[in-house]
Order: sequence, then structure tokens, then C-alpha cells
Amino acid sequence: MKKKIWYTYDDVHRVIKQLADKVKASGVQYDAMIAIGGGGFIPARILRCFLNIPIYAVTTAYYDGEHTGKVTDSVKKIQWLDPLPETLKGKNVLVVDEVDDSRVTLEFCLNEFAKEDFGTIGIAVLHEKIKEKKGKLPEGMPYFSGITVQDWWINYPWDADDIDEHNRLADQATID
Ligand code: G4P
Ligand code: MG
Repeated sequence: MKKKIWYTYDDVHRVIKQLADKVKASGVQYDAMIAIGGGGFIPARILRCFLNIPIYAVTTAYYDGEHTGKVTDSVKKIQWLDPLPETLKGKNVLVVDEVDDSRVTLEFCLNEFAKEDFGTIGIAVLHEKIKEKKGKLPEGMPYFSGITVQDWWINYPWDADDIDEHNRLADQATID
């Protein structure tokens, strides 16, 4: 079974500060973020403390072929920036998600954004899993991750049923 890891809200906040520093150091001034929901919503909001730019959002759902019996994995739009708001045309946007895992969702979203009239499209993820990727990111898009992590299942605090138990497990994992 896949190993698991628990991150607290404090862990997430610290990593996002590092992520913001990397984005700022790149020299590109991003005009707005596009959060990929649901996982990208809370990271984008925390990132806004450091980058001070507005947040737009899209939401997707991912269907894993291995578990549904379908041959291919597919991503569906739940909500989209369609039509693209005038305020975003020609602007540099930073696409924000919580995790770079298989890249299937990221590839889908970035290919859709690449068709639009944007300036630079950057990608910012909290956790970059070191593993073989199914999806491919479009060429030439600046990529930032807060930290690289092993290919373990990450338990995010916003998914917790019991946040105190979640934090206890996160503490324990630090001690081990
Ligand atoms: P990627 O392109 O960003 O690499 O994502 P991928 O399609 O591989 O991920 C499919 C779904 O699985 C995504 O959720 C992603 O957030 C979630 N996921 C991948 N690895 C982990 C992990 O280690 N922990 C948790 N908690 N989730 C993980 P989604 O369909 O976009 O749902 P949501 O963002 O609305 O929750
Ligand atoms: Mg997600």
C-alpha cells in the first residue's frame, strides 16, 4: 500500500511562502491567479497574502480509468472561465494547484488556457511529487513548486474529518 503523509495548515502556509518567493524571484509580474479547484482554492488564497493579485477559478473533476473500468483517464470541466473575462485578456496568469501528481489535470487545464489570449502562463503547485508523469506540461511555461515530495499519498488538512486527529498524525510522522 502507498505510504501516507499528513500536512498541517501551518506546513501548507510555510511551503506557500517559499513558493511565493520563487515566483517573485522569477522576475515575471503575474497579474492574476487561476486556481484549479477544489485543491487549488486554499493554496491560492494563502498565496494571495504574498503576491497580492486577484484570484480567478476553474473547477474540474478527474475520472480515473483504472477505477471506473474505462480505458482512458479523463478530466471534466465543472466550471470554467468561459468566456474569458476581458480583465484577463493579454495578462500574465499564474495557475495554482495543490499537487503535481500524474499531471493529467494540469495538462488538461494548461492546454485549455494555452488556447486563450494570455501573456505568460505560469504554473505554481504546493507539492511536486517525484514520479513518472502521465500528463505533459506545454512547453515554455514557467513552473514553480513549493517543495518536492516522494510519491506518497498526501492528507491535506482541508480534507480532515477530525482536524485534531489529523494534526496528531502529522506530528507523529515528524517524529518517526
Ligand atoms: P495533477 O494533474 O495536478 O497532477 O493531478 P491528477 O490529475 O494526477 O490528480 C487527480 C486528483 O487526485 C486531483 O484531485 C488531485 O488533487 C488528487 N491528488 C493527487 N495526489 C493526491 C494526494 O497525494 N493527496 C490528495 N489528497 N489528493 C491527491 P481533483 O480531482 O482535482 O479533486 P479536488 O482538487 O477537487 O480535490
Ligand atoms: Mg485538484
